[in-house]
Amino acid sequence: MSGPTADLFADDALQQPPRREQIGEQSYVLRGFALPWIDRLLPELRRVLAQSPFRQMVTPGGFTMSAALSSCGALGWTTDTHGYRYSPLDPSSQQPWPALPDALRELAVSAAADAGFSDFAPDACLINRYVPGAKMSLHQDKNERCYNAPVVSVSLGLAAIFLFGGHERGDKPQKISLFHGDVVVWGGVDRLRFHGVMPIKEGVHPIMGPQRINLTFRTAG
Ligand code: SIN
Ligand code: FE2
Repeated sequence: MSGPTADLFADDALQQPPRREQIGEQSYVLRGFALPWIDRLLPELRRVLAQSPFRQMVTPGGFTMSAALSSCGALGWTTDTHGYRYSPLDPSSQQPWPALPDALRELAVSAAADAGFSDFAPDACLINRYVPGAKMSLHQDKNERCYNAPVVSVSLGLAAIFLFGGHERGDKPQKISLFHGDVVVWGGVDRLRFHGVMPIKEGVHPIMGPQRINLTFRTAG
């Protein structure tokens, strides 16, 4: 190709960041990976949240988490003064959590495959809602029964700075900006790395409004 069209493509190639960024030996940020699913995903997410609304949970240490939580799938993650655990029932209603919608499962399975984890079979999707100022302290995801499966994390709405640390709480974390539609996958040797989210900055996202919603898919049971 030559002429103005070729230049246009060359410029595009220079300006577009790589779609898949490796952030650990077996960890990737998949930029915009969720965007093709958004139109199917949002109505399903609304149905899930109508059945199991966001609620603020208390940690075993007695702190109220700044992110509000819900879940869908066979197992949902909960915390209270007795500890962290997965449960088949939503503690607010004592009913099973909403089923994991097909669009969410397909997105998670295909993101995992893109990051090198075939046969991902998530049975839990934790839904976190962050309003500006809300954050998630550094932690490991370790309430799952085994760590063979990766964690697949989908970001929607306001941007966040994701902290991706090492295997020790004190290891200096990488700071990674995450935007609407980005997916992070960590597994294998990186499965137990510490991670968290810095306080969300004020803002209004054109589709999601003044909030960030994060979905994390795991094989918990
Ligand atoms: C989590 O670690 O459960 C949430 C991570 C995120 O909100 O990006
Ligand atoms: Fe986590």
